[in-house]
Amino acid sequence: MTKPKLFIARKLRDVVEARAARDYEVILNPEDRLFSHDELIATCRDVDAVLPCHSERFSADVIAELGPRLKIIANHSVGTDHVDLAAAKAAGIVVTNTPDVLSDATAEIAMLCMLGAARRGAEGDAMIRAGKWDFWSPAFMVGRQVTGKRFGVLGMGRVGQVTADRARGFGMEVHYHNRRRLPDHLEKGAVFHETLEGLLAVSDVLSLHCPSTPQNAGIINAATLAQLPERAILVNTARGGLVDEAALVDALTGGRLFAAGLDVFQAEPGGNPALAALPNVFLLPHIGSATEETRDAMGFRALDNLDAFFAGVEPGDRVA
Ligand code: DGY
Repeated sequence: MTKPKLFIARKLRDVVEARAARDYEVILNPEDRLFSHDELIATCRDVDAVLPCHSERFSADVIAELGPRLKIIANHSVGTDHVDLAAAKAAGIVVTNTPDVLSDATAEIAMLCMLGAARRGAEGDAMIRAGKWDFWSPAFMVGRQVTGKRFGVLGMGRVGQVTADRARGFGMEVHYHNRRRLPDHLEKGAVFHETLEGLLAVSDVLSLHCPSTPQNAGIINAATLAQLPERAILVNTARGGLVDEAALVDALTGGRLFAAGLDVFQAEPGGNPALAALPNVFLLPHIGSATEETRDAMGFRALDNLDAFFAGVEPGDRVA
C-alpha cells in the first residue's frame, strides 16, 4: 500500500522523524528554515498531510491556495491561532492539535517567568555578566515574595490548571476566571470569579492561559492593567496577542506594575524592543513547551492524530 505523503514543516526530534518515516513518505526540513508563504503553499499542494508548528501560518488566503490533495493539518502545538479554522473546515481540511502533553512544561516556564519577574532575575543575571556586581547590602536588589500572595489564572484550561497546582506549591492562593466554573475536583479550592474584573482586582500575580482568539486580542490593555492591585506582576506564557504591549510598557515604566515575565510576544521571533529595554521584565523566547520530553510527546501526539485520520478513525485532537 502506498504511504500517505507528509510534509513535516520544521525540524523535529530524531525519534519523531524516525517514526514518521516508518509510516509516511516524508518531506523533512533538515535546515529548519521558516518556509516563505509561496514555498509553504507549493509544498503543501503536493502532499496528503502537513505537520506544522505555530510558526507556519495557514491564513484563509493560504488555505484557499492549497488545492485538493491536502487532507489534514496535524499541528505540533496546542495553540491553533496560526490556522484559520473556519477556512480549513470550509475547505474540508481536518485540523488537529497537541493538548495535555505540554501542560507540565508550560507550567514550569510560567513559574520561571513569575519568579524571574518577582525576584528580579533578569537584572541580577545581567549585572553579573556585565561585571557590574560590586556591591551587596540588605537593601540591594530587593524583590517581591510570592509566598502567600494571590495567583490569578485567566483561562483555567489544562495549562491553567497545572500552573495553578505549581503556584499552590509556592503557598499562593489561587483565583481564576474562566468561561465555565470547574467542578470541585479540578477547582481544588481555587476561588472562581465570574468576571474578568473580579479576577483582576485580586491578582497579585496574573498569569494568562486563555486561547488567542479575535475576542481575546489585547484583553490585557491599559484599562485592564489599571484594575490589577498596585505593583502586581503579569505572566504571559500563552500568546503575545493577548497583551497590548504599549500599554504594558507604560504600566511597567509608570510603576503601576512591579514586573512582567513574558515567554510570548506580538512579534515572534524577535520580541518587543521597548519591553526588552526595561529592567523589570523577565524575557524568554517562546520556550514554554521546549523540553526533550515534551517535544517528543508533542511529535508523537501529532503522529497519533495522523495515524488515526489515515486509518479512517476520528483523530482524538480534532479542532476543525
Ligand atoms: C503551543 O503548543 O501552542 C506552544 O505555544 C508551542 O507552539
